Amino acid sequence: MPQFPNTRLRRLRAYDWSRRLVRETRLTPDDLIWTVVVSDSADPTEPVASMPGVERLSVKAAAKAAREARDLGIPAIAIFPHIDPAHKDEAGTEALNRDGLVARAVRAMKDAAPEVGLICDVALDPFTTHGHDGVLKDGRILNDETVEKLIAQAIVQAEAGCDVIAPSDMMDGRIGAIRASLDSAGQQDTMIMSYAAKYASAFYGPYRDAIGSAKALTGDKKTYQMDPGNSDEALREVAMDIEEGADMVMVKPGLPYLDIVARVKAEFAMPTYVFQVSGEYAMIQAAAAQGWIDGERVMMESLAAFKRAGADGILTYFAPRAARALHG
Ligand code: PBG
Repeated sequence: MPQFPNTRLRRLRAYDWSRRLVRETRLTPDDLIWTVVVSDSADPTEPVASMPGVERLSVKAAAKAAREARDLGIPAIAIFPHIDPAHKDEAGTEALNRDGLVARAVRAMKDAAPEVGLICDVALDPFTTHGHDGVLKDGRILNDETVEKLIAQAIVQAEAGCDVIAPSDMMDGRIGAIRASLDSAGQQDTMIMSYAAKYASAFYGPYRDAIGSAKALTGDKKTYQMDPGNSDEALREVAMDIEEGADMVMVKPGLPYLDIVARVKAEFAMPTYVFQVSGEYAMIQAAAAQGWIDGERVMMESLAAFKRAGADGILTYFAPRAARALHG
């Protein structure tokens, strides 16, 4: 008689009911943060060529999207602006406009669906002619001068009604500086989600297309975003942001950095988010369009993988489609 195993892991996999019963993590609409690009274009929606299925939304269309998020049970929307090139300058002055696109979108979306959380990106790149996240001088991005601007930008956003300030610029010390300034501006209850471990990644390509900074960008962002080879450094970044007052932390990009998500969650036990960025979205959509993968299944599997790695939520362009799939 050959020796057969007395433990058979396949036993539990035999039925749909037993697979459901032993499943360790599951995705729900509560895990989704919908990443939305807003624009001042006269058209209600404009397709983004490198992100099939994603459209830039007018302020009015964004308000409609907020109601859609509410109806789908999506807790929050992250807003990214496509700024008219005529409003860009070297210094990114438009970022501080109290009546700029982001402030108007926030007001319209809050008005339309007050129960949906709004998250605003803090960084100068949508507003600068050079496409960098900070103040550029003699070919260098100045840290402290940039932080001064980010503080002002964050206050404009909070005063417009944004619930969560999300600095994505990777300057040193910005979380503490923004926290202190929000507090002294009477915005103690405004939350901060820091893009704590954000890598200098080629996966952001289609996003730069979506917000119109691709052509503008001179050089790369390696002097402020993290080197993809580093992992311990991500923990140092996250530790500093927590120390400085971040309520939630984020890892970005997503799938290629699941090891970082897992380490961050295990080390700090903080509310931890992950950004499934534009290039990840574009790759899935492109392969699906060719018929090379089952796009719907790959979307759901990729989102489930973030949960398994330890993420508490996922910023994703797939949010409404995934929520619809989850509702069956
Ligand atoms: C910039 C910012 C970027 C993204 C969000 N905020 C790109 C960058 O750092 O160049 C990327 C989002 C995506 O790729 O989906 N502050």
